[in-house]
Amino acid sequence: MRNFITFEGCDGVGKTYQTRALKEYCQQLGLDVVFTREPGGSDIAEQIRKIILDANNSAMDDMCEAFLYAAARIQHLKDIVKPALSAGKVVFCDRFVHSSYVYQGLGRGLGLDNIVALNDIAVGDYMPEFTVFLDLSPEQAFMRKGGADKTDRLESVDFSFHSKVYQGYKSLIQANPDKFEVIDASGTREQTQALIRQALVRRGVLPC
Ligand code: TYD
Repeated sequence: MRNFITFEGCDGVGKTYQTRALKEYCQQLGLDVVFTREPGGSDIAEQIRKIILDANNSAMDDMCEAFLYAAARIQHLKDIVKPALSAGKVVFCDRFVHSSYVYQGLGRGLGLDNIVALNDIAVGDYMPEFTVFLDLSPEQAFMRKGGADKTDRLESVDFSFHSKVYQGYKSLIQANPDKFEVIDASGTREQTQALIRQALVRRGVLPC
């Protein structure tokens, strides 16, 4: 879908900082753009987000979680993304279907085909024009945070989950390189922001 751009990356990559900095830059330029995020982004979708991310819901079935992400997505598209695109605005969305593909389909092992099929129902034609992928492996993100106890059982379980997520993103990109702008996120925040802006200029989304 033209003018619909999503951001993806592993946890800890600095996506929240980068999207916020980009939003401020767009505001300075006076561009009429919309920044939103998933899971959530609209009233009802934010209520679903609370259920998904609630630490008391650790017994939630993985497939239930996958359906909730898709359900929140349907509502978010209806309330925020579709009206903004219809009004001719550019929409930047922090996470979208690719998060479900890699976190639920591959990380949780529900199967990529299942999660693609589920999300095809949820989004229809509303696939992003392209996706900005902030490229930093979980190992690099971990080192940047100053590390943690590698011998800790839970840390290492978590680590293998995030490695699957990262490898999942890499294979999606390899299968469809034109649909991604891969940004090296290993430098400073400012360097990463500059790379994102350059990519958006190249794609004709930001002015030179
Ligand atoms: P959030 O606090 O928004 O994290 P981040 O700043 O890294 O985006 O939490 C979102 C979490 O939800 C993140 O760990 C990825 C996960 N997620 C999925 O597993 N599937 C999805 O479809 C989406 C949108 C997010």
